[in-house]
Amino acid sequence: MRTIDWVDGAVELVDQTLLPDKLVMLRIHTVAELVDAIRRLAVRGAPALGVAGALGVVLADGDPAQIAELRAARPTAVNLAWGVDQAAARLPQGREAVLAAALKVRDDDIAACHAMGERGADLLEGDRLRIMTVCNTGGLAAVERGTALGVVQTLHERGRLAEVLALETRPLLQGARLTTWELARMGAPHRLVADSAGPYLLAKGGVDAVLIGADRIAANGDTANKIGSYALALGAERAGVPFVVIAPESTIDPGTPSGEHIAIEDRGDDEIVSFRGVRVAPEGTRALNPAFDVTPHDLISAIVTEQRVIRP
Ligand code: MRU
Repeated sequence: MRTIDWVDGAVELVDQTLLPDKLVMLRIHTVAELVDAIRRLAVRGAPALGVAGALGVVLADGDPAQIAELRAARPTAVNLAWGVDQAAARLPQGREAVLAAALKVRDDDIAACHAMGERGADLLEGDRLRIMTVCNTGGLAAVERGTALGVVQTLHERGRLAEVLALETRPLLQGARLTTWELARMGAPHRLVADSAGPYLLAKGGVDAVLIGADRIAANGDTANKIGSYALALGAERAGVPFVVIAPESTIDPGTPSGEHIAIEDRGDDEIVSFRGVRVAPEGTRALNPAFDVTPHDLISAIVTEQRVIRP
């Protein structure tokens, strides 16, 4: 199954807001529909956003206003703007050239995820690995296989995976809803843990490696990823557990010198003060809702891309 693809002149994607209960494909014909799908996280995860951005330029049919709106639909994952730029660069050559560039972004992502899975699995030592991860970095966050969860899949295929501890990932539960769904489909042993249990479980010695994805890697190696990643990095450092970032080269942003320059999306009060439309905090409670955090490069053991292993 492909999470996002170009089918019969439209963007087809899995509506991730409905998982794990329903697997529904959305057919998207306009940039406005695609921007809405991105903002409400029907499609999400940095590599999938890169493909969405590239395919969206085909839908925009050369309209600069629509292309700009698509490029800015979410701010943190650099892949979205990168994907838009890959396709938009071919606008002078016409629609077929734009489509070819967008399909290349899709195909390159599939190949990159395979390569990252192999390289990441080669890097880790041990035969029966207990892996901790946050958010969803699997095939649902890319086109197929994914980044950190792609490494998990390769480890599982090689018979080297003991268990995955998946953090639930408040407030939108990408770990509880999506990562568990993917792990169950691949037959990989896993347990779901509350986000706040992560550092404690690391301290107890129950984890051999933390594997995460990335939304933007600054030039100095500082890495923005789903909120909760930084707490795991601190816990891993204290426990002496490797903390490894798995991301394609397209997530590295040489134009951003360090983490403090990364724009972090704040998704507003509602996701925090309520759950699935039911208010859980007193009326009028204000919230802070950063969707991502930044892990400083000195807490990262290695960054694995489809081309190399970088040790910050
Ligand atoms: O808000 P989301 O669900 O788009 O956040 C996704 C993440 O933070 C992922 O870890 C990241 O995009 C890497 S996905 C391979």
